[in-house]
Amino acid sequence: MMRIRSYYKSGRTIIVFALLAFTIAVLTRCVNGGERQMDEGGGNASAIYVGDDKCGSCHASYVEDHHQTAHHFTSAWGSESSILGDFSDKGNSYRFSPRLMVRMEKQGDSFVQTAYLQGEAKESRAMSLVFGSGNKGQSFAAWRGDHLFQLPITWFAPAQQWSNSPGFPQKAVFNRPITARCLECHITNVEISSTRGVEPETYKRSSFVLTVSCEKCHGPAAGHVSYHEKNSSDTVARNIINPAIFTRQQKLDQCGLCHGGTLDRINPAFSYQPGDLLSKHFKMDSIQTNPLAMDVHGNQMGMLSASKCFTASDMTCQSCHNPHKKEKGQLEIYSQRCMSCHGQQHQVKCKMSATLGAVIQKNCIDCHMPKEMSRSVAVQLQGKDVPTPALMRSHFIQR
Ligand code: HEC
Ligand code: HEC
Ligand code: HEC
Ligand code: HEC
Ligand code: HEC
Ligand code: HEC
Ligand code: HEC
Repeated sequence: MMRIRSYYKSGRTIIVFALLAFTIAVLTRCVNGGERQMDEGGGNASAIYVGDDKCGSCHASYVEDHHQTAHHFTSAWGSESSILGDFSDKGNSYRFSPRLMVRMEKQGDSFVQTAYLQGEAKESRAMSLVFGSGNKGQSFAAWRGDHLFQLPITWFAPAQQWSNSPGFPQKAVFNRPITARCLECHITNVEISSTRGVEPETYKRSSFVLTVSCEKCHGPAAGHVSYHEKNSSDTVARNIINPAIFTRQQKLDQCGLCHGGTLDRINPAFSYQPGDLLSKHFKMDSIQTNPLAMDVHGNQMGMLSASKCFTASDMTCQSCHNPHKKEKGQLEIYSQRCMSCHGQQHQVKCKMSATLGAVIQKNCIDCHMPKEMSRSVAVQLQGKDVPTPALMRSHFIQR
């Protein structure tokens, strides 16, 4: 959207040029049988993303619902409204040792993390990019040139405290780069300006399409929008991907791109497009499927695929999750989805149903998908000797 708007600003010739470039891009797509053009550094430079707001005029309720979801809040530019966390004098610091601390401060319009060694400011960086809805927490990144670096301090929501960023050593580290793979799970698209395959990547700042937006799951939609704006009587969808027609594996891989834990990639980040198989872009033997070795963080795919529900049915994530709605905490709705396979008319029923009666129909979840302590989302809180973990739902469904 940003790109299109700026074309309009810079005058008529550029509009013509943009339309021309767009037509060529569309034609090339057709010639290549739907294969996208990729720029040198990976990323998706030729595809035109328009942003969620563009969908509202024709799909208002989808947009309204989507804007309540964690996907919509999972990345944002740093601002008063996007950054959670305590900036009061009482709660705005994290002390590594009596000599070393980091303080979260508001300076003019920006929010910064500043490291102080024996009271003297040593390094100060702006919280430019925010990761996380704040459900579990938020981490932050700062620009240096066209690189992004993760900041040492993370807001840990369960404790309502600042903490050392997960996996960081016990000192104020400002030089851990944000790779494109990190962005791939938390934003929709970005153009990578550095050489293909070389990490850490540099990013074209004006090209960011933040959040896990409609187009992350439905593909870049400029062609769809412009077609339907011009042909308002056509009620058949054009130039858009509907995952409803995907095979089971395509559906699973769509969510698995981000909910499949760490995967070793073959292609540059952002190569995946909806409908692709992950095996085209990642080494699939890097998928962890042993529930005992695996972590609950970020690998719902691996946990689920070890469950009997999954292996004995054609279950996908959509068997329980509506990708468009926020349903967090509504355990009754989720339990009804269990009942769609385990209800009266079906053979396999809970052995506890005789003893518990109707009560259990409202909550299958706490017994069969208990919250477990995450090993990788664990932070070092101030003054604690051992890391404090976040609690995550286990997707390994067991008796
Ligand atoms: C100018 C109107 C218009 C705009 C803007 C628009 N769409 Fe659509 N879209 C339609 C029409 C018409 C259909 C077909 C009827 C239906 O399914 O509602 C459709 C259908 C769809 C479908 C279902 C596809 C299928 O095969 O059934 C998806 C997915 C979709 N649109 C996504 C989007 C996204 C994402 C955006 C924003 C980037 C968007 N649309 C913006 C008009 C629009
Ligand atoms: C581009 C990466 C990406 C894709 C693709 C993706 N997700 Fe997510 N999803 C995330 C991230 C990141 C979060 C965490 C958001 C946060 O709280 O900051 C998340 C959160 C969720 C949540 C938790 C919602 C809540 O309210 O806590 C559910 C459920 C979920 N995703 C299901 C799905 C399903 C189902 C699919 C496939 C249809 C899918 N996701 C595809 C990245 C993705
Ligand atoms: C996390 C992935 C994800 C996101 C984000 C997402 N969708 Fe979808 N969408 C899906 C999936 C999966 C389906 C297919 C559902 C099914 O299998 O019936 C779908 C189906 C649709 C359909 C067709 C419904 C039908 O009955 O076939 C429309 C229209 C649509 N989405 C619009 C949107 C719009 C507009 C947005 C943004 C406001 C959006 N979607 C965001 C995953 C997503
Ligand atoms: C493989 C995809 C993937 C990668 C790579 C990834 N994340 Fe995440 N992240 C997720 C998913 C999925 C969640 C939702 C919680 C879960 O399932 O663990 C999440 C959750 C988070 C949260 C907590 C959100 C909340 O409030 O619940 C933060 C903060 C976060 N990620 C930051 C980062 C940062 C920073 C990086 C890169 C250095 C990164 N993530 C890399 C997928 C990913
Ligand atoms: C898509 C259908 C489907 C859905 C939805 C579903 N299950 Fe299952 N589940 C199955 C099948 C099939 C089996 C295997 C039955 C058998 O042993 O033959 C199973 C097995 C189980 C088992 C026994 C596991 C074992 O190791 O013996 C439990 C417990 C279970 N399901 C609980 C749940 C709960 C709780 C939910 C909702 C969160 C749920 N299921 C949702 C299809 C489903
Ligand atoms: C059998 C039903 C079922 C299936 C299938 C399922 N989930 Fe879930 N999922 C749940 C339930 C129940 C919750 C807990 C919801 C809550 O507490 O609000 C949940 C929670 C989540 C969360 C939030 C995790 C947390 O603890 O904050 C994510 C992310 C998620 N699911 C992703 C997925 C993905 C990706 C898939 C497919 C690989 C998937 N789920 C398949 C039932 C299911
Ligand atoms: C109070 C905890 C609790 C609740 C609530 C509960 N279950 Fe169970 N469930 C169990 C236990 C314990 C077993 C194992 C019983 C045994 O093996 O004798 C079990 C077994 C099962 C089995 C395997 C049965 C078999 O024959 O292999 C299924 C399927 C199941 N539950 C589904 C569900 C569904 C669906 C719900 C929600 C409607 C639910 N459970 C609610 C505790 C619970």
